[in-house]
Amino acid sequence: MSKKKTMTTTGGGPVGDNQNSLTAGARGPVLMQDYQLLEKLAHQNRERIPERVVHAKGWGAHGTFTVTHDISRYSRAKIFSEVGKKIPMLARFSTVAGEKGAADAERDVRGFALKFYTEEGNWDLVGNNTPVFFVRDPLKFPDFIHTQKRHPRTNMRSATAMWDFWSLSPESLHQVTILMSDRGLPVAPMYMNGYGSHTYSFWNKDGERFWVKFHFKTKQGHKHYTNEEATKIVGESRESYQEELFGTIERGEFPKWSVNVQIMPEADAEKTPYNPFDLTKVWPHGDYPLIEVGEMELNRNADNYFAEIEQAAFSPSNLVPGIGVSPDKMLQARVFSYADAHRHRLGTHYEALPINAPKVPVNTYHMDGAMRFFKNDTGNPDAYYEPNSMDGPAEDQSVLEPPLRISGDADRYNHRDGNDDYGQPRALFNLFDDGEKDRLFSNIAAAMQGVPDGIVQRQLGHFYKVDPAYAEGVASKLGITVSDEAKAA
Ligand code: NDP
Ligand code: HEM
Repeated sequence: MSKKKTMTTTGGGPVGDNQNSLTAGARGPVLMQDYQLLEKLAHQNRERIPERVVHAKGWGAHGTFTVTHDISRYSRAKIFSEVGKKIPMLARFSTVAGEKGAADAERDVRGFALKFYTEEGNWDLVGNNTPVFFVRDPLKFPDFIHTQKRHPRTNMRSATAMWDFWSLSPESLHQVTILMSDRGLPVAPMYMNGYGSHTYSFWNKDGERFWVKFHFKTKQGHKHYTNEEATKIVGESRESYQEELFGTIERGEFPKWSVNVQIMPEADAEKTPYNPFDLTKVWPHGDYPLIEVGEMELNRNADNYFAEIEQAAFSPSNLVPGIGVSPDKMLQARVFSYADAHRHRLGTHYEALPINAPKVPVNTYHMDGAMRFFKNDTGNPDAYYEPNSMDGPAEDQSVLEPPLRISGDADRYNHRDGNDDYGQPRALFNLFDDGEKDRLFSNIAAAMQGVPDGIVQRQLGHFYKVDPAYAEGVASKLGITVSDEAKAA
């Protein structure tokens, strides 16, 4: 048997005794000079970092993205440059509202965050398992999240707050319908689709721009729990997702998703009857069919969950040449919000942590700051500002995005004006069979327990506009009728 390594302090000094504190006599008090004890206690006090303000509970794994179809006519991004190409990647799935210790099998939207370590730097696609979102203006995001988290006085989740906000925000109807449907409670991450949700942009080597949406379709099939099944699962295990994802990968059964895009030529954005940059809307497949691009496989568990999953920092601002943002105002807010959150949660140099570090040289001119443990490889210590005559890294205009024509008066435009919030939820409702509709009604009724009548009726009014059967189905499960006021709303 090989000799064990000698245990050390963080300073590298060998530790002689890790069982007994240094005391004045066998029954005496601990001596201040027992640095090993002090270090151990001090480190323990610093073991926790802030949890994510949303999406705190998560499960992740490493994987591979393989290009199966050529889409280089749409994007110059090197990740898509040739069929057969393989790119290492990281995935983290999550629930939105629960804290870090929340049970896994809870009804909630699931995060679907991906980091692709490409040869042009990291591309992060921070999506959900739903193609749309609850709000379309970022000014409403913190309010929405407050309704999902704990009430300041009761310290409990508040159904009243949720339905009050949703019933006053009809743009949430599409996402609420998905959340309350079967797909609102998947069995484990591998049994759900992922969506980039926002409209992003592609541009090709000729500078031609396309609008794009990303779709990750599960190859394991969709599997969901009913509320009753989930209650039983949570009673048995609060970590059912972690068990299933970790266990499956450990057994060598690697979950896979087909990776697809919808492509809209730049000029079409002026013609669609809906705003293609509205995050509460999908692009119907009939108009913009899915184009297959590749396959994503998760094939390696993290060796250290904290270092590789908890400290993973995904951000929609991590983009590569050929993939860009769009006029979606939610996306622009996210370009700010994530890196800001990471600097708070992980520190100034979060991108230098091994899990976040790109697999290409990093050549910024950022300086100093807490925990600056690395140096820039600019090749010359005198090149610490830009421009310089020292051969320091310089810009490369060939990676610039083609200009985007934008016009309009700066103003606070009412995002609810002229928006049909009911048509797409109706298309979804019409996809459901009778059993799915019945479970939808029950799930909503269960989630509305204790909510004041006025709020319930306001929400029924929205369901009624989608389809009278939707409102009546929910009302019947609640043992009430849809009021005339709600019908006329
Ligand atoms: P399609 O019939 O062409 O596509 C339906 C889409 O809905 C498929 O992506 C399918 O995903 C998904 N879907 C099927 N059953 C359910 C369900 N029970 N709950 C949630 N999603 C489901 O129709 P359209 O493209 O015209 O869209 C109709 C409606 O479908 C939309 O209003 C939207 O609510 C929903 N939808 C549309 C998507 C899109 O990008 N167009 C994406 C996801 C949902 P799968 O193939 O994995 O079963
Ligand atoms: C996490 C902000 C909308 C998906 C987060 C975090 C913040 C945030 C601050 C925590 C980041 C961290 O600490 O690591 C916002 C804002 C939004 C918004 C301001 C709107 C204006 C969305 C949307 C989606 C989404 C629309 C999906 C389409 C996620 C995911 C995570 C996350 C998946 C977890 C990432 C991970 O696994 O680390 N969001 N968010 N968010 N958000 Fe959002």
